[in-house]
Amino acid sequence: MGVRFVVFASGSGSNFEALVKATQTKTLDAQCVGLIVDRADAYAIKRAHQLNVPVSLYLQSWYVDKEAMEASMLKQIQAWDAEWIICAGYMRIISKTLLDAFPYRIINIHPSLLPKYRGKDALGQALAAKDKTLGITVHRVDTGLDTGEIIDQISFQITGDEPRIEIEEKLHSLEHIFYPKVLKQLWEEKP
Ligand code: GAR
Repeated sequence: MGVRFVVFASGSGSNFEALVKATQTKTLDAQCVGLIVDRADAYAIKRAHQLNVPVSLYLQSWYVDKEAMEASMLKQIQAWDAEWIICAGYMRIISKTLLDAFPYRIINIHPSLLPKYRGKDALGQALAAKDKTLGITVHRVDTGLDTGEIIDQISFQITGDEPRIEIEEKLHSLEHIFYPKVLKQLWEEKP
């Protein structure tokens, strides 16, 4: 059954769905044992129901601080017996509680060629800078904002004349292929 992983998401969850489908088609020899979300309105929740993946919701307002929220998440992740945490559009900095529990085993995908354009709306930042070479990075998560060790990157060209929506579609469809591919390589190196 391969590696057991949980996905963390805050929004649409299209990368989450792509990862689950990659496990179903055996492109990825792994199992998505659960989805953790931090927003009640995340569309990722609907996708999880359709994909038969268990979901657990954590709202920051339920907890005194981030550590308490992550301690609660950790109990669920351990109950699911997950070995890796895969962030896919999870828009929150992960803190020591989870980093200590999963050393080097928390991965993120970010829509820029890091170290360029950390943080929110990386695509918007790249477009504002009039970049014609855009890209995606898969990296390990550390205590910083998109600062962890880079595992792999992929770039693509734009003319600069396309509408943003078209660029977003291109970026997302590339992410959906790239993320499972990088995780496959990572997990074959370090099972
Ligand atoms: C993805 O483009 C991902 O790279 C980005 O959020 C989007 C989530 O889409 N992540 C970040 O910006 C992290 N800093 P999805 O919910 O459809 O997978």
